[in-house]
Amino acid sequence: MKRLIVYYSLSGNTEEAAKKIAEALDADIMKLETVKKMPKAFLAQMLVGGGQVMMKYIPELKPLEKDANEYDEIILGSPIWNSKGVPAINAFLKDGKAAAKVTSLFFLSGGGEVEKGLAAITKLLPNLKNTVSLLDKKHELSKDNGSKIEDFIKKVSGQQ
Ligand SMILES: Cc1cc2nc3c(=O)[nH]c(=O)nc-3n(C[C@H](O)[C@H](O)[C@H](O)COP(=O)(O)O)c2cc1C
Repeated sequence: MKRLIVYYSLSGNTEEAAKKIAEALDADIMKLETVKKMPKAFLAQMLVGGGQVMMKYIPELKPLEKDANEYDEIILGSPIWNSKGVPAINAFLKDGKAAAKVTSLFFLSGGGEVEKGLAAITKLLPNLKNTVSLLDKKHELSKDNGSKIEDFIKKVSGQQ
């Protein structure tokens, strides 16, 4: 089984999980990056990111380093941003063939409202089987991320 981890991460939480999952599954890994950079300050990120989500903005991605067609399955990593999905993830999932290869999703949130944001991502994933909800490292319960990732890896690799 040839697997690719595809993720977007603005402040590093999704990236940390993506690297752990890629290592455990011996999978390739690809970070999505937008041509136009997001601001560095948190408040500005909330304003710009929140606005993009509201406007259903689809950003231009930097050229993809891997070709989804060469993989059997994709494991997608996304933060939760408000209620219409993360713009960079939406841009990647515009490729329906790539979206159909996503069998598993790990997502990061600040511990707030996730249902709408999650629904916005999952409705684009017709073959989704495994999902795990992880918490930003600022959240006290993020200490459980490690064991949740281990369970997720077992499910993805068919051991559970
Ligand atoms: C624009 C924006 C919107 C967000 N909206 C939510 C939200 O609706 N609910 C939530 O629990 N966390 C929300 N968050 C927090 C992120 O999901 C959380 O910090 C996550 O760990 C970020 O992942 P990253 O470090 O990989 O970028 C939001 C963050 C940003 C930047």
